[in-house]
Amino acid sequence: MSSVELNEYFKYVKEIIIGAGQTVIEGLEQDDKNVETKGNIRFDLVTVFDRRVEDDFTTKIKQRYPDHQIIGEETWPANVTPKLTDTPTWIIDPIDGTINYIKKIPFIGISVALAIKGEIVIGIVYNPITNQFYSAIKGEGSYLNGKRIYATKNDDLRKAVIGNEISLASIPFLHDRTIERVRKLTEFGVLGFRSFGSAAISLCNVADGSLDVYFTDGLKCWDVAAGVLILEEAGGCAGNPNGKPFNMFSRVLLTAGNKVLLDKMVTILTECDEKTIAKVRELISPELRS
Ligand code: IPD
Ligand code: CA
Ligand code: CA
Ligand code: CA
Repeated sequence: MSSVELNEYFKYVKEIIIGAGQTVIEGLEQDDKNVETKGNIRFDLVTVFDRRVEDDFTTKIKQRYPDHQIIGEETWPANVTPKLTDTPTWIIDPIDGTINYIKKIPFIGISVALAIKGEIVIGIVYNPITNQFYSAIKGEGSYLNGKRIYATKNDDLRKAVIGNEISLASIPFLHDRTIERVRKLTEFGVLGFRSFGSAAISLCNVADGSLDVYFTDGLKCWDVAAGVLILEEAGGCAGNPNGKPFNMFSRVLLTAGNKVLLDKMVTILTECDEKTIAKVRELISPELRS
């Protein structure tokens, strides 16, 4: 894929996303956003504006690139795990941070990524409320409103601000695990915790150096596809909390501004996770213990 082609895709999609920002802003002040729950999951909410942004995006991509595939949060079938093929694929989360949007908390992002031959090559996260447009093209660095951004060089965990969330979508075992991780990091003595309610925006905050670390569970590919490219192009690192490489379909994520910080986090999180797993083993019957 030539950089001319990538720039062409980028220009086209940027226009769509800026237009989508208008839709999001118009919806923000409306008290009736037609909020619905998805299935019977109480905390998985969707508004008419999430759907409108995704529909509009899909229509415009299909008009210009009819053979491209789209993986979108609001239209992807709940029982099918998405996967990348050789077909160019757009991954869209029309509003990352829907609960923030409903509550008028200004941390939301329209998140769009493009995968070519299985690799993410374009990532955009746009917050129209704060007017922050984060973007990256593979190999060309990351930008906030056109200005180059860099992840932190701080490698001292005691000076680190950690972004994380207790995802209610997770199973109770994962709640225990998150609480154990926070307890351990508190004992260790990090500088502070922040919980922004948008994975896409949190990743951009690691990319621009305002967060040192971000980790969470229960994610889907559309939450992280764009943000991880933006983070990596800003010099940051993404991985699995167990030290294995990042996989956007794995539902777990650990990120940091640099490799030293990431490795320190892996050591601490692995310890916590082993402890939580041991606790779960105690609760299950002896025959099932491995
Ligand atoms: C959610 C946000 C949140 C994360 C959840 C996601 P949504 O996305 O990214 O920060 O903790 O796991 O589902 O539903 O607001 O697009
Ligand atoms: Ca959602
Ligand atoms: Ca999301
Ligand atoms: Ca969403």
